Amino acid sequence: MLQDIQIQGTEDGSATLYLPGLLETYHSNKGALGESWHVYIQNGLLPKLSEASSLTILEVGFGTGLNVLLSLEATSEQHSIRMMSLEPYLLSLPLLASYYQHFEQVPKHLSCLPTLLASEQVQTIQAGFQFQLIPSKLEDLSKTQMAFDGPIDLVYFDAFAPSKQPEVWQIDCFKKLYESMAHKGRLVTYCAQGQFKRHLKQIGFEVYNPPGAFGKREMTVAIKP
Ligand SMILES: C[S@@+](CC[C@H](N)C(=O)[O-])C[C@H]1O[C@@H](n2cnc3c(N)ncnc32)[C@H](O)[C@@H]1O
Repeated sequence: MLQDIQIQGTEDGSATLYLPGLLETYHSNKGALGESWHVYIQNGLLPKLSEASSLTILEVGFGTGLNVLLSLEATSEQHSIRMMSLEPYLLSLPLLASYYQHFEQVPKHLSCLPTLLASEQVQTIQAGFQFQLIPSKLEDLSKTQMAFDGPIDLVYFDAFAPSKQPEVWQIDCFKKLYESMAHKGRLVTYCAQGQFKRHLKQIGFEVYNPPGAFGKREMTVAIKP
């Protein structure tokens, strides 16, 4: 899966990774940083923080760690964040260090990256922010692997596109997430594919489609009523 991985600049001065075997990038070519901030922070974390200062977050697809670094930036010691991130294909620290060198402006918390990568056991990354990296696929995830019990308030669903990775977008994966989420729990993703949205509604989510990043017509916000 990770063979011949390439670093590519994106239009906002940040960078993404390209997998030639999958013909897929980790982020939008228009901007990795801008897309991550828009989808996961602006439409995910910030609205949840306006409801509660204590949150449990699950990310599907740690990848470059960009969403976690931006989540650190958007929170402070006033918050109590318990974040778990799933990643079956972990990238090496040297590759990621080289990746972030391609950013015109590196994320403020980049120095936390080595600790994030070594967080199979929960680590406190900064005051008010605990983190666990789970080396598992969503399809195989069991509750016993998750350090934080209790319902999940926010899901960052950042897997590769449904056309590239259909197994992660099967309805059973979203049923599993729905069951583990809190009342008013929120799932956000860059994807707004029709079949995916129909699955979310079928399970019982309320589905909203605000504009996506960089003029993309839609992204998806799903709320568990
Ligand atoms: C679109 S990339 C985004 C990653 C990350 N959020 C970022 O900003 O770099 C998708 C990520 O999902 C991971 N992934 C692949 N299969 C997965 C699975 N079955 N369950 C969870 N994550 C998976 C990939 O290895 C990759 O890191």
